[in-house]
Amino acid sequence: MIQVTELGYVGLGVKDLAEWKRFAAEIVGLEVADEGEAGRAYLRMDYWHHRILLDEDGADDLNVLGFRVAGAEDFHGMAEQLSDAGVAVEIAAPAKADDRRVLELMTLNDASGYPIEIFHGPQVQADQPFHPGRRMHSRFKTGAGGLGHLIQRQTVGFEKTYAFYKLLGLRGGIEYRVPIPGAPRPLELMFLHCNERDHTVAFGMPGEKRIDHLMLEVDDLDDVGLAYEVVRKAGVPVAIAPGRHANDHMYSFYFMNPSGWQIEIGWGARPASQQSEYYQRDTYGHERAAPPAPKPRAVQAAG
Ligand SMILES: [Fe+2]
Repeated sequence: MIQVTELGYVGLGVKDLAEWKRFAAEIVGLEVADEGEAGRAYLRMDYWHHRILLDEDGADDLNVLGFRVAGAEDFHGMAEQLSDAGVAVEIAAPAKADDRRVLELMTLNDASGYPIEIFHGPQVQADQPFHPGRRMHSRFKTGAGGLGHLIQRQTVGFEKTYAFYKLLGLRGGIEYRVPIPGAPRPLELMFLHCNERDHTVAFGMPGEKRIDHLMLEVDDLDDVGLAYEVVRKAGVPVAIAPGRHANDHMYSFYFMNPSGWQIEIGWGARPASQQSEYYQRDTYGHERAAPPAPKPRAVQAAG
């Protein structure tokens, strides 16, 4: 069976590209690479040409996940593996692969109908070391674990969702059963991995957007502390306070991005576990911010 090796890139649709570029550089510390294309910017985290594509299309949501396979042989084998399982796969024209800065690209939809891309051969700019958009103590942690992880929406249930992602070579299962006061069933979250990272994609968080959050890992705890201070000083809303996750052991916090979903900055995760277990809550911390209180009428009227 052929397996994807990492989440190589994500494509985000945004309403305000200028604001996103500022946020990415000054708040998150990503490197903004502008190739002079209208309505498009690239965000770098390492030697890759980009890890995040920003398209000013108004979506304010996740457009596409880009999963990597090892090389040409696995690429064509994966297309066959998916077609044999009844998944409609299209090998993209060379111009589309060029647009993604990869050697070859295929496009398909996941079980919920959300766009996925599978590629091999990303452009790696060995001559252009990552240059953070603001000061950092150390660097983003990518490597064999890919760019990070995310929680995304599914609309067809865990079983069909898992059946699809298993075809790509991801494995995993339920890792949280969170009791919800007054609800007959706990909130279940499903986490899937394809490499040493505990999870690459996860499902189950309620929400209107395809994406709940994107986690970017740093290799120095001080970069979580610094990011927290930068976020607070800039008045960016913190969505989830610092804490440690029970499943991947990540020490992290979450804040809102200009598209109204969350970025998580984390450190200290353990490698993916090969045996299932579940948790009812995190190790400590991670309190959710209360929704903002409604403003008094007089203040509202004043603007
Ligand atoms: Fe996360």
